[in-house]
Amino acid sequence: MTQPRLKPPEQLDEGEAKMELAFLAAEIARHDRAYHEMDAPLISDAEYDALRRRNDTIEARFPHLVRPDSPSRRVGAAPATGFAKIVHRVPMLSLGNVFAPEEFAEFCDRARRFLARSQPFAMVGEPKIDGLSLSLTYEDGALVRAGTRGDGTEGEDVTTNVRTIAAIPAQLKGKAPTRIEIRGEVFMTKADFLALNAAQEKAGGKVFANPRNAAAGSLRQLDAAITASRPLSFFAYAMGETSEVVATSHWAYLERLRHWGFVVNPLSRRLDAETDAPAFQDEMATRRADLAYDIDGVVYKIDELALQTRLGFVGREPRWAIAWKFPAEQATTKLLDIQIQVGRTGALTPVAILEPVNVGGVLVARATLHNEDEIRRLDVRVGDTVRVQRAGDVIPQVLGIVAEARPHGTHPFHFPRRCPACGSHAVRAEGEVVWRCSGGLTCPAQVEERLIHFASRGAFDIEGMGEKSVHEFHALGWIRSPADVFRLPAREDEIAKLDGWGEQSAANLVRAINERRRIGLARFIYALGIRRIGAANARLLARHYGDLETFLAAMQQAVDPDSEAHVTVTSIIGIGPAIAEELAEFFGEERNVRAVRALAAEIAVEPEEVSGGGVLAGKTVVFTGTLPTLSRPEAKAMAERHGAKVTDSVSKRTDYVVIGADAGSKARKATELGITVLDEDGFRALLGGAS
Ligand code: IVH
Repeated sequence: MTQPRLKPPEQLDEGEAKMELAFLAAEIARHDRAYHEMDAPLISDAEYDALRRRNDTIEARFPHLVRPDSPSRRVGAAPATGFAKIVHRVPMLSLGNVFAPEEFAEFCDRARRFLARSQPFAMVGEPKIDGLSLSLTYEDGALVRAGTRGDGTEGEDVTTNVRTIAAIPAQLKGKAPTRIEIRGEVFMTKADFLALNAAQEKAGGKVFANPRNAAAGSLRQLDAAITASRPLSFFAYAMGETSEVVATSHWAYLERLRHWGFVVNPLSRRLDAETDAPAFQDEMATRRADLAYDIDGVVYKIDELALQTRLGFVGREPRWAIAWKFPAEQATTKLLDIQIQVGRTGALTPVAILEPVNVGGVLVARATLHNEDEIRRLDVRVGDTVRVQRAGDVIPQVLGIVAEARPHGTHPFHFPRRCPACGSHAVRAEGEVVWRCSGGLTCPAQVEERLIHFASRGAFDIEGMGEKSVHEFHALGWIRSPADVFRLPAREDEIAKLDGWGEQSAANLVRAINERRRIGLARFIYALGIRRIGAANARLLARHYGDLETFLAAMQQAVDPDSEAHVTVTSIIGIGPAIAEELAEFFGEERNVRAVRALAAEIAVEPEEVSGGGVLAGKTVVFTGTLPTLSRPEAKAMAERHGAKVTDSVSKRTDYVVIGADAGSKARKATELGITVLDEDGFRALLGGAS
């Protein structure tokens, strides 16, 4: 608790603030020592937190007074994984998938429509290696930083380890830009993978499931000497941030990469027209088995970089590149049982329990059956022989049954109408395929799943709070909601007495929990486990709203689908109406809001830097009529890239109306309301000639 004799932070003058920060640094350090080194806290957690909060508040008012030994600098300096985080200024995104020529043709048609163009595209085809993407930053030709992809916007700094990989030049050959970020794939060849596993097995070390895991495990070593001893390879294939234009086509860029000393996959090929892709796809499929490394398809990229820029991204995928995957690996095995798994949002997912079978090098014992309709469509029954498929990292799935192998006496599967965990009614909303447990937070399975998610690595990352301990504490009635997790330290003695615990592990857990009493807003949002809010969406929200109070206030207003706050959520790039609806649903429930507030009261949520603007930040733009060169989606994407919110109807809140041919009533209304009306040239001028 804040001590009553202290002045409220807003009344402190600079001299007082400076003195108090010095006092707090020493005092908090003293309590840290008592707590961590002597296991003998001198004050309660709440009192300790109050000290930290006061320190934060004063620092927020007087940022120039933050001391080098400030407690706010000490905690969280070393992320749990042991690697520092790096932020990708140009996000590292993923690729959409296609599996057939028609789907590939549709991808090309979409890009053509977006560009309002009629000619075919020249493309580059590159084998798609299932490895680990890496971002390499070079300054004046020297490698200064290497980062993993992470969730696309934030990865791990693996510079020291990457310096040990021979295929990655420490210094670029020839003339290099002042600053350039080069991206590519770290991987392990099949032979290297087998040899490594054999050696590991002999030494009693970890054996890897596949070359991808082996590459990932080898790169993410805290000891770079281990990485150095592992046979890692690298192909360069993409561009990140760059200080100058280095090529006008992707093909020419690959050529430059080679000159700088990178290995570019020699099978990459420039295709004059997209219609050459199916033949290239067939050729790669045939050569696949003879390659030294695993590939799971071919990546096709539109060659002209100016077109790539114009096409940009939709969600997390580029409009200018696509992965055309090979058919996934399959096998047949026996279906032993169908179990219903309850997810953290109550979804009831049928899971096939299989006689373990090797599918393309991985042992598969469980596969998803998706939902009730899928089971009915396949007429899958316990006892059947089923065909299972595994594609990359995707959860294996049951494709169908081998009808001839069906034994006598099987029965159709009846999807339960009640939750197997809590007995609540299952409900299936109109138009949805998923049955959900209606128990909400009264369902122990949902509560446990949410808590597991809450404590998991990407969320609060509490060491020692895995599935097992969550289950145990939940069964004891000690944790019902996230806030309870932070009340566990009060039960340290009781925890120590539990089977399999003991004083040391209880103390470790308490320490791990207390270490997480400060958390960034993005992780906080992610930890809530709202449907569709993964780490990347959480970060988008955090960067948009900045701090917890602003976020919560906006979310509560946005519950009303007609509110301006709701429209704002949908206009955050990367967030769409479906996600906005999930947020509205979550924050529309009073008990969720209460749980979030109770949690916030236990901890300190650190604000996130609000993503800056673009020339149209905060502006609302309406497009109407046909523009001379820009398609509507391209125009909209351009406006959004520069920070604008694009809406359909003109109102007092509209800042610009961009009109084309045959613009109707919206143009009139804009004039009536005195809103700035622009044509395409005017719009482009507004963006300052930027694309
Ligand atoms: S380009 C925005 N090119 O596939 C597009 N990716 O599914 C960036 N990958 O994360 C990726 N080979 O790890 C690209 N020749 C290639 C690739 C490739 C493998 C991986 C990469 C990426 C994933 C997307």
